[in-house]
Formats: sequence, structure tokens, C-alpha cells
Amino acid sequence: MRVLAIGDIVAEDGREFVYNNLNRIRDFYHIDFCIANGENAANTNGITADIANTLIARGVDVITMGNHTFANKEAEYVLEDNPNIIRPLNFPPEFEGVGVVVKDIGIARVGVINLIGRINMTPADCPFHAVERALKTIDADVIFVDMHAETTSERIAMAHFLDGKVSAVFGTHTHVQTADERILPGGTGFICDLGMTGVEDSVLGVKKEIILDFYYQAGKRFRFEKAEGEVFFHGCIFEVDPSTGKTTAVERLRFSSSHLPY
Ligand SMILES: [Fe+2]
Ligand SMILES: [Fe+2]
Repeated sequence: MRVLAIGDIVAEDGREFVYNNLNRIRDFYHIDFCIANGENAANTNGITADIANTLIARGVDVITMGNHTFANKEAEYVLEDNPNIIRPLNFPPEFEGVGVVVKDIGIARVGVINLIGRINMTPADCPFHAVERALKTIDADVIFVDMHAETTSERIAMAHFLDGKVSAVFGTHTHVQTADERILPGGTGFICDLGMTGVEDSVLGVKKEIILDFYYQAGKRFRFEKAEGEVFFHGCIFEVDPSTGKTTAVERLRFSSSHLPY
């Protein structure tokens, strides 16, 4: 089976691209299941009920989140109402929503786990122990982990920790795609960062002039605004054998709205 993971969908341009293209992307690449990070899908942080429902209607099977999960208050009931949107498992258990979902799509029971790192991030419980506990109870043929973290080392360490225990680990949050896609010795697919789906002529999807001010005039007021321009789609396809749960091929995707592969 072929599973597509889409990097952080940023703001209106990013989500409109997914709304309008995901069906064709799924057909062209023969995708059986699609996971997308939606923590920046609203302008430019968080998610709303309308956005979540539209992403799912247009072909996303599971939405993962990150440090911006609750940027919109609406997310609290979005997460309670829709189990197909998950937030980091190692957030406090009292927070709305869950960190794990299993969906039976006929050819396999697909598990998705969302974790958040602890280095240069808001405080959270240990993601390593949290996922270790979850794997003891999860009943799925294939398992995918979104490790939402700031540093490459924490994500790579998580991938090695889970090698042979899950089908694939992919990183999100830093919005810059890494070219290190591979299959680890135990059969777990990995990419350190999927990249973002949003306007590339920006700083991580935010209007570049605003971020220049943010650094050049550090300490003064600033307000993030979404960038406008050409959208780049970033993601990764994991080909997985449901009988073993192992990844057999990894294909990194990067293309722009003006150079579509289909
Ligand atoms: Fe993030
Ligand atoms: Fe993000």
C-alpha cells in the first residue's frame, strides 16, 4: 500500500492547493491513505472546523497537529468532535483530543500517532516514553508517526528508537524539506522533515518582510501575516507491505503549482 504524508499545510494558499489538487495527486501516485499536518492550516496557525472538514472531504484521511494545535479556540471542539484529527500524544491527557487513531481501510488497519519534541518547544511529556506506552496497546497492521519537533537530532533519534516497531516516521514543524529519505535497518521508512505546503517566497509561509522585521527589530511589535505567491507542495510517499508493516520504498515529493507532475 502507498501512504502519502503531506508537510505542514500553511494558510489559505496552502490549503487551497490541497483542496484543488489532492484528488489528482492521489490518483497520479496511486495513494491508498493520506496523512497531512494541519497545524498551520488557518491563517497562519491552528485549524478550524471548516478547514478540517474540507481537508478530509478533499482526500486527507488523518490530520496531525503540533505546537500550534490550540492556536484557535475552535480547535478544542474540533478535536473532541473528530477523531480523524489528532494532536501530540504527549500533551497533557486532560487536553482535548487524542494522539492516536486507527482506521480500517480494508487492505490494512492504519495507525497514526502524533508526537511533539521537547527541544526548543513548549513543555510536553517525554515523546519516547509516550509512544512506547502507546505501541503496547495499538492494534494496527501499519503505523505512521508524525514527530513534530524543532531539532533534527530529536527526530532522527525517534526514528531509530522506533525502527522495526512502526512502518514510518516523518518529521514536521520546521517547514523545510530534508533530502534524507531512507529505510532504516529494521524496515522503518524515515524523512527528517516533509517540508511545508505553502508559499515558498516567504519565511516558512509567513510574509518575508514581517519576519525580517521580527529579526532586524527584535523586541518590537510584530504580527504574522501569510505570504502570497507560488505554492510548493512537499511530502513523502511510503510504500508499505501490510503483511509485515515494513516500508519497501520511500519517494520524496516536491513540486510547485506551476510545474505539476500530472
Ligand atoms: Fe509546529
Ligand atoms: Fe508548522
